[in-house]
Amino acid sequence: MVEGVGSSLPERRVTNAELETMVDTTDEWIVQRTGIRERRIAGPGETTSVLATRAAQEALANAGRTAADIDLIVVATSTPDFTFPSSATQVQAALGIVRGAAFDVQAVCSGFVYAMTIADKFLASGSHERALVIGAETFSRILDWEDRTTCVLFGDGAGAVVLGRQEGQGTTADRGVLTTHLRSDGRHREKLYVDGGPSTTGTVGHLRMSGKEVFRHAVGMVTDVMRDAFAATNTTAADLDWFVPHQANERIIDASADKLGIAPEKIVKTVQMHGNTSAASIPLALAVACEDGRIKRGDLVMLEAMGGGFTWGSVIVRW
Ligand code: ACO
Repeated sequence: MVEGVGSSLPERRVTNAELETMVDTTDEWIVQRTGIRERRIAGPGETTSVLATRAAQEALANAGRTAADIDLIVVATSTPDFTFPSSATQVQAALGIVRGAAFDVQAVCSGFVYAMTIADKFLASGSHERALVIGAETFSRILDWEDRTTCVLFGDGAGAVVLGRQEGQGTTADRGVLTTHLRSDGRHREKLYVDGGPSTTGTVGHLRMSGKEVFRHAVGMVTDVMRDAFAATNTTAADLDWFVPHQANERIIDASADKLGIAPEKIVKTVQMHGNTSAASIPLALAVACEDGRIKRGDLVMLEAMGGGFTWGSVIVRW
């Protein structure tokens, strides 16, 4: 079950007005097309593992746990500090943990849904007791800051949850992860990718995206896996207390909720203040909605994401 949540954002806030001074864009265009009003951009010392560690510390405190209670760390990121070692091992070292396993998961914007799924399966198998599941990104480092079609969309940050193993009754009243559904289809690579990497260019590369193409697939893909999650748990949109989607674009979020009949007041939206923080967006949104008292113990929460690959997936959690 989810024992605690934490988050960490870079200091620097970049508004749409500031972007107007950098590329040929307007606040009106960005807000109308995406809902984004501002995002945080990491400074030189604010690396992915630094943000991830801060989010993890906050999640541990929120859970009333210490680093000694953790035997699994899964970090979802596409912007690690280094090609290797993994950001998860750096978080592990920063927290002073010397037992268990730590590794990164790379599923771009679906990374947190993938990481939750993997951690849940480790815990369910009985091999591990308590996990830190973290989504952490510094997408600002892989943006082409001269490409107005992409640089206005993304932001940096990290969010984390502490996930503990707990025996349940096998019903939807159990607390914790109730169902997970992952999908991928590598034929869509060209629609959203980074044009560099260790084994090709030997450079980090820049994010490239055909926004229209991504948009065209997004709603259908995420609603598919949400339907799978409802079917697996014998629940419906009416049973949900909160819908916490990947925060890429307000129009995708609203269209997905509308298609499945999820009431607008159940949607947690943070895209307006964080932009698209890729794998960090869901745990950042969870942290906001827990902090302000919306998500409470016992609530039924649907998570979903879609991203580069394409990858997509859903998770239903009883809080
Ligand atoms: N400011 C002003 N004008 C712009 C900007 C900008 N920042 N960017 C593009 N434009 C212009 C284009 O050049 C184009 O002009 P033209 O008609 O003269 O050629 C016009 O705006 C329309 O461009 P489109 O790309 O057709 O705009 P669209 O309505 O499709 O919106 C957007 C673009 C917001 C990217 C949209 O396609 C989208 O949200 N796609 C999904 C992207 C996404 O969410 N990706 C993330 C999901 S996966 C993940 O999270 C990694």
